[in-house]
Parts: sequence; structure tokens; C-alpha cells
Amino acid sequence: MIRTKDIVDEFDKRIRMTSKEVTFPLDTKTKKTINDSLEMLRLSQIDEEAKKYDLRPGMGLSAIQLGIAKRWFVICYEVEEGKFENYVVINPKIISQSEEMIYVEEGEGCLSINRPIDGIVPRAARIRVEYYDMDGNKQTMRFREELAIVFQHELDHLNGILFYDHIDKKNPFKNADKYRAI
Ligand code: NI
Repeated sequence: MIRTKDIVDEFDKRIRMTSKEVTFPLDTKTKKTINDSLEMLRLSQIDEEAKKYDLRPGMGLSAIQLGIAKRWFVICYEVEEGKFENYVVINPKIISQSEEMIYVEEGEGCLSINRPIDGIVPRAARIRVEYYDMDGNKQTMRFREELAIVFQHELDHLNGILFYDHIDKKNPFKNADKYRAI
């Protein structure tokens, strides 16, 4: 099982690496790491389990956050109370995105950043993406709102970008009126 101590934090140089394309088929170890990551994210979103395993709640985790410089990430999204949807996203690309930009009103969070950071992180409200699943099948998907934000946040990790890189240093709440808060 993946625990908090296994997650690379913002002060570790590896978090700034550009990750490399994944080749198929995936090896057994990679598949296990992917499944373990999804399980950790699911447990982290269930209060009781999060407390038990000392996990901070998270919806997304990229390989580099485990020190693996490969272009994959996972998303575990709670569609309704206790019901989760898993996404395994390999070699992702954003094909197109909306002009409309949104941001998380309470600020974005990241399992690699263990301190509160205020400010607006503008993200496209809707994206069309391509990626490969665990079996190497190409997927074309549209994401909107919260899932679109998570996808963009995780994709940034594959390029060594952290969410606060998008926040204006001098005025963290600059342009608040230009974007829609969710
Ligand atoms: Ni993150």
C-alpha cells in the first residue's frame, strides 16, 4: 500500500523533472503501482480510512509523485457518496480546450505540497483529451469542471509544473473576476 511517506514532496528535486513517455505493454510492477495509487486515493477520500492510514484526501496522483519519471497519472473521483470512478491516464495530450477559464475557489491542493497556498490557478473549464489506458488502448475523452481541473493539474506534474507556478506572485487573486470560481 502507498503511504504518505512514499510521496515525493515539493522540496525534492525529482518533482521538477519532465517525465518520459510510457511504452506498452506495461510491466507487472507498473500495473501494481497504478492500482495501489488508485486504492490510496480512494481510501484517502473516506474519512475513517484516511484517519486510519494517516492519508490526506486527494483525487489525483502522478507517477513522479512516487519518484517515477513516467508519463502516467491516476484520478479517483467520487461521483456520488461512496461511489468512485477510476481513471488511468497514460501519455496524455490535451487536444482542445474551452476559452472559458475556471478556478477552485478554496485553492488547489496537492499531495506533494504540505502547506496551504492561497491564490487563483486558472484552468480551462472544458478539455478534450487523448490518452492510453492500462491495456494500451487509446481513449478520447471530454472532461469538464472539477475533473478537467484535476486532469490539468496532474498533466502539469508530468512536466514538472506545480499548481502554485500558475499563481501570480505579487497578486495571488489577480483576475478573480475574469474567471469562474467552482
Ligand atoms: Ni499535485
